[in-house]
Amino acid sequence: MTEKIKDGLYYVGARDPQRRLFDELIPLPDGTTYNSYLIQGKDKTALIDTVDPAKREVLEHNLESLGVEKIDYIISNHAEQDHSGSIPYVLKRFPQAKVVTNKKCKGMLEDLLHLKEEDFLTISDEEVLPLGQRNLQFFLAPWVHWPETMFTYLKEDRILFPCDFLGAHYSSQKLYVHDKHSVYMSAKRYYGQIMMPFANMAKKHLERIEKLDLDLIAPSHGQIYRDYDFILDAYRDWTSDKVKNEVMLVYVSMHGSTKAMADYFAEKLKAKGIGVKVFNLTEADLGELAMAMVDAATVVLATPTVLAGPHPAAVYAAYLLKALRPKTRFVSLIGSYGWGGRTVEVIGELLSSIKAEVIEPVMVKGFALDKDLQRLEALSEEIYRRHQELG
Ligand code: FEO
Repeated sequence: MTEKIKDGLYYVGARDPQRRLFDELIPLPDGTTYNSYLIQGKDKTALIDTVDPAKREVLEHNLESLGVEKIDYIISNHAEQDHSGSIPYVLKRFPQAKVVTNKKCKGMLEDLLHLKEEDFLTISDEEVLPLGQRNLQFFLAPWVHWPETMFTYLKEDRILFPCDFLGAHYSSQKLYVHDKHSVYMSAKRYYGQIMMPFANMAKKHLERIEKLDLDLIAPSHGQIYRDYDFILDAYRDWTSDKVKNEVMLVYVSMHGSTKAMADYFAEKLKAKGIGVKVFNLTEADLGELAMAMVDAATVVLATPTVLAGPHPAAVYAAYLLKALRPKTRFVSLIGSYGWGGRTVEVIGELLSSIKAEVIEPVMVKGFALDKDLQRLEALSEEIYRRHQELG
C-alpha cells in the first residue's frame, strides 16, 4: 500500500509483520519493514532505497498503483540486500534509471547484485543532486553498520533518510510513530544488535544530523519520526560513555549449582542498590542480551564446567560480548565445576580483546558452601566499590 507523505512524496515500501528472524540470527518480535520512498521533483524522480527481494512484488504493486512512469535515480544508502535487493528489478522496469550512491557502496553493489559500471552515478560527501524544485544532498556515514552507508537529505522538505540509522525492526500499519515506548524498545534492541560495535561512528553521525534543519526522519526500518527528539536523545544516551549502575548476570546451569550461585549473587548485588538483569542463556534471545549490554556497567557470566571448559551457551554469550563491544566497564565470571577444567582460561581468552576490566572470577567445586558464598559476597562488594568510583 502506498501512502502520501506530501505532494510528490510517497511511502512505497513493504511491511513484513510475520518475519521472525533477521540474518538467521536476530529475533524480530515486532516483525520489520523495508521502507522505500518515491520523490518526484519537477524534472526528475528518485526512489530512496528499495525493499527486501522477498517483498519485491509489494514495491512493484506500489509503483504501479501510483502510475509511476519513470524513475531517474535509485538512491542506494546501504548495500545490504534488505534495502538494495530489489534494485535489479527497478533497473529492469525503468532501464533509464541510474543507481546513485558513493564509491564504496557502488563496489559492494557490483559484488552483491552484479550491477554494471554503466548502472551508476557516483556521488561524494555533501554532493547535491537536483530533481527540479527539490534537491537531494548526500552525507557519507560509514559504519552504520557497514562501511559504505550514507544518509540522504531532502533539503526543501527537510526530511532525512538515514536508512538503518535510528531505525527499528517494528512493523505497524501506521506510517508515523504513534507508540514511542514500543518504538524506543525496538530501536534499542536494534541499536544493541548492530550499531553498538560502532558507537563512536554513530556518535559522529548524530552530531552531523543535529546540524540539519529537520521536519521528519524517515528511516528504512520502522516508522517515520515526526517528533524525533526522543530517538535522538536515546542515541545520545546509548552512544555516550555513561553506564548505568547495573549488572547483567547471564547464567546457564545444568544441575542447579551455578544457578544457586547466580541467585545468591543477584540478591547480594540488589541489597547494595545495584540494578541486576538476570538472563537464563537457554531462554534469552540475542536481542534481550544486546539491549541489556547497552547500559550495564558490569557483565557477569555464570557457567558450569562441562567437557573440561565453559558451557557452550556461556561461550556464545562471551562471543557476543566481544563482538557487540558494549561500553561495559567490568566483567567477571562465576560458576561451579566437578573435577577441574579450563573454564576461566577459555572465557578469559575470548574476552582478552575487550576493553572492560576483568574482576577476579569465583569458581567453586561442587555445590557452593558458606565459604564459597562469602567469596561471591566479596565479589558483589568489589563490584559495588567499582560502580561507586564511576560516580
Ligand atoms: Fe537494514 Fe543493514 O540493513
